[in-house]
Amino acid sequence: MTKRVAILISGGGSNMVALARDMAAPDHPAAPCIVVSNVPSAGGLARAEALGIPTAVVDHRPHGQDRASFEAKLADAMAPYDPDLICLAGFMRILTPDFVELFEGKMLNIHPSLLPKYKGLNTHARAIEAGDTFGGVTVHGVTAALDDGPIYGQARVPILPDDTPDTLADQVLAVEHRLYPAVLRRVASGVTAPLHLE
Ligand code: GAR
Repeated sequence: MTKRVAILISGGGSNMVALARDMAAPDHPAAPCIVVSNVPSAGGLARAEALGIPTAVVDHRPHGQDRASFEAKLADAMAPYDPDLICLAGFMRILTPDFVELFEGKMLNIHPSLLPKYKGLNTHARAIEAGDTFGGVTVHGVTAALDDGPIYGQARVPILPDDTPDTLADQVLAVEHRLYPAVLRRVASGVTAPLHLE
């Protein structure tokens, strides 16, 4: 049966679009059911609507430091769509262990580094500063620890001498758009062995 996928975003949603476009293929084991943003002005919302995907906004700001009440609203927004899988796609909120547990084994995240290197923010600047010759991207299962969990796929991107955090981010983002859809296809078919994309 086709898996129902909720996609959570905070920004432009280019990874969401890459996932949704791939899922439009007739042989795909999954289909998008809802796109939720915690940022009302997120550009990805209009892009999801243009693709015919239902959208919802759950603004985190009125909840202040109360992550649990924000997450309760997030779960409420997704509940009517009964997702089998949740893809975090540039979703920039840290989730509590309780929320992660609710969706254990069903939630994927894309992170712009070769995990376990450079968890958290400013990954590209940190890779360049460290003199790394490769940056990259990881898709992993979400666990209670930040940017941790089983690795479902990785792809490397060479760091060139002239690269800045911005140029590297552009290179990595293009690869993200290939890696995330490829991994989602596998995970939706029950394959969680890591994919190494060249
Ligand atoms: C992507 O580069 C994604 O890997 C990153 O945010 C960007 C979202 O772009 N995610 C994180 O940094 C999560 N810690 P998009 O909105 O165009 O998909």
